[in-house]
Amino acid sequence: MSDITSALEELTIDQKAALGSGSDFWTTTAAGRVPSILMTDGPHGLRKQEGATDHLALSGSLPATCFPPAVALSQTWDPALVHRVGEALGRECQAAGVHVLLGPGVNIKRDPRNGRNFEYFSEDPLVSGTLGAAWVSGIQSMGVGASLKHFAANNQETDRMRVSADIDPRPLREIYLRAFQKVVEEAQPWTVMCSYNRVNGVHASQNRWLLTEVLREQWGFEGVVVSDWGAVADRVAAVEAGLDLQMPGNDGFDDAKVIAAVHEGSLDPAVVTLAADRVARIAHRAEAARRPDTAWDAADHHDLAREVASRAIVLLRDDQKILPLDPAQRLAVIGEFAARPRYQGGGSSHVNAIRVDVALDEIRDRAPHTEVAYAAGFSSDQRADPAALSAEAVRAAADADVAVVFLGLFDGQESEGADRADIELPADQLALLDAVVAVQPRTVVVLSHGGVVRLAPVVAGPAAILDGALLGQAGGSALADVLFGIVNPSGRLTETVPERLQDVPSFTNFPGERMHVRYGEGILVGYRWYDARAIDVTFPFGHGLSYTSFAYDSLKAEAHGDTVDVRVTVRNTGERAGREIVQLYASRDGSAVARAPRWLVGFGAVDLAPGESGEVGITVPRREFEYWDEELQRWLVEGGEYRIAAGASSRDIRLSDTVELQGETARYRLGPDSSIGEILRDPIAGPAFQEVFAAMFEQFSGAEETDYGPMLDSLPFGRFVSTTGSALPAGMVDDVLARANAANGFEENRT
Ligand code: GLC
Repeated sequence: MSDITSALEELTIDQKAALGSGSDFWTTTAAGRVPSILMTDGPHGLRKQEGATDHLALSGSLPATCFPPAVALSQTWDPALVHRVGEALGRECQAAGVHVLLGPGVNIKRDPRNGRNFEYFSEDPLVSGTLGAAWVSGIQSMGVGASLKHFAANNQETDRMRVSADIDPRPLREIYLRAFQKVVEEAQPWTVMCSYNRVNGVHASQNRWLLTEVLREQWGFEGVVVSDWGAVADRVAAVEAGLDLQMPGNDGFDDAKVIAAVHEGSLDPAVVTLAADRVARIAHRAEAARRPDTAWDAADHHDLAREVASRAIVLLRDDQKILPLDPAQRLAVIGEFAARPRYQGGGSSHVNAIRVDVALDEIRDRAPHTEVAYAAGFSSDQRADPAALSAEAVRAAADADVAVVFLGLFDGQESEGADRADIELPADQLALLDAVVAVQPRTVVVLSHGGVVRLAPVVAGPAAILDGALLGQAGGSALADVLFGIVNPSGRLTETVPERLQDVPSFTNFPGERMHVRYGEGILVGYRWYDARAIDVTFPFGHGLSYTSFAYDSLKAEAHGDTVDVRVTVRNTGERAGREIVQLYASRDGSAVARAPRWLVGFGAVDLAPGESGEVGITVPRREFEYWDEELQRWLVEGGEYRIAAGASSRDIRLSDTVELQGETARYRLGPDSSIGEILRDPIAGPAFQEVFAAMFEQFSGAEETDYGPMLDSLPFGRFVSTTGSALPAGMVDDVLARANAANGFEENRT
């Protein structure tokens, strides 16, 4: 008998129930030989509280490295780099005695107004799942558990504890669960955190389909399902559904309900034991993995944070080639964010950063022999005089060779717990930009924001634009490195920048009403939507420029069994070394189901010196071509031709090739409701009925050519038979359908 099993044998049902809830805000309960463990927030830095505790970072926390939040981390498109961040977080957790770090968040960026999008990776499930898995593998390699969150479909903050995300089966599986599935199957997080919201009407915390059937039985999750803090509405129902750990604990209040339910016979004690067993296993695993002597170097972690930040920055445009800056140029640095950086989001992920690099100081450090003027230009302080601030900035810009204008969203404008009403940059900032550009066309805009902001007003002028998203504590130095060309930017957008809020897929279904939000856009989230609707965007998913340029010289795609191997040759056609991130998109014409025009199936990077060519090899697993068939309750790859396109963004497709994939055609149980078309396309029923239909149709319409046409194609077979049944040999229908269904694996109808 395992030590854990024996440890559980020693516990009473009361003690087992107690294992299912926290002993305080951050700690699980110890019972018998089962230790308690400490879990706390992440994801982009350790938020360990001592003394007052809360889940919105209202009380302080110990100093820790503030890495770039997911919005920036994702723009590196680099799983290996994300893995290194996970390792560093693991070191800080080990040193602080934290067993589980609550992250990563892999919820899809369905609507740009979501106040918490800064904490998530992308609008695309492959980017989210790939980087989420790298984060989990990184931190768990250091003996610290992850908590994959928020499972599932927590795509808004409005009414987050009650709202039902009403999602059809295909988008739920192919978009909103997909990243979670990839992380669970590839990285086995120690814990999964259920979300606050309902999924199709049932609270995630007590959604058996989600927590047991999908997560455990279909994906093979082996760890603990922990609630989001305060997400349990009915603890007994939650335990029955597969929720193992309620956080935070409430002094046994809900434990008592579990115990009472067991005593009155309405809750099987084995269910309580199963949850306790899972918690005990993670507790023992975490304790065994403790490395209390782990030391970490704050300077090393800061350097890593800076490396990540510099790789996250996206060069959105630079039509006039203003960048990189020359240190001899006279500069006007404008905007409060240059002096008071906005480098992370608000809410439970907020880190007490060990240090924060200030862009203005870093710029001055890299241009020591020139004048670098500063003007706030605008202020979050309502007492400031906007006109005076603006006038000062305009004067500074007019006197300089180049103006660098920092724009963005203040802390209060986006945070966990609330959604934005729009995606606009503040009007005073846009007005300031116009005034600066009017006197200084050589202007560079640097953006600080978590959720997407509308950039159509910004691109109306000549300014170059760097997207700094939220870059963590080292963002200031990273921005200076990119501005002066010490680092050649290689970041790529992981969320589309729409022309207008009205263009976004969820515009008419956000944030819902009366506790329901309808995911009416289906699978067409993000670029899938804009491509399907041929809607212009300001900057597409995957977009990012470089201080050099790249040509794509060749692409070869070959299907080998369960994978498609793609090789793309890229050449650096510019004057500087740089990194290109090659994106692969698949397309399928004539699919049996609705498809996006193209969807991301893989990506890879290559670093090239000027003039150098290099090959990017990307292996695309077969699963990237599948779709979910709800009627058959499984994933399915259609056989036939797919186009594989290599692009520098979802809208900058450079080369493509086609591959032939072995696959299947969905076969459904045939019966009276099957259409004539389905009958005729079935390999057994089709030939059997072909002649009969042809003769009948001819008798009907006298047409020579048997053209069933769309009308007949969709005519229910039973209706056709009932109107012409006499013409069919007795018993033929039942016999042929029975043979066809058997051949397609359907057991004969027992009815
Ligand atoms: C918060 C967040 C979750 C966090 C938890 C603990 O409400 O939704 O991401 O880990 O509570 O702070």
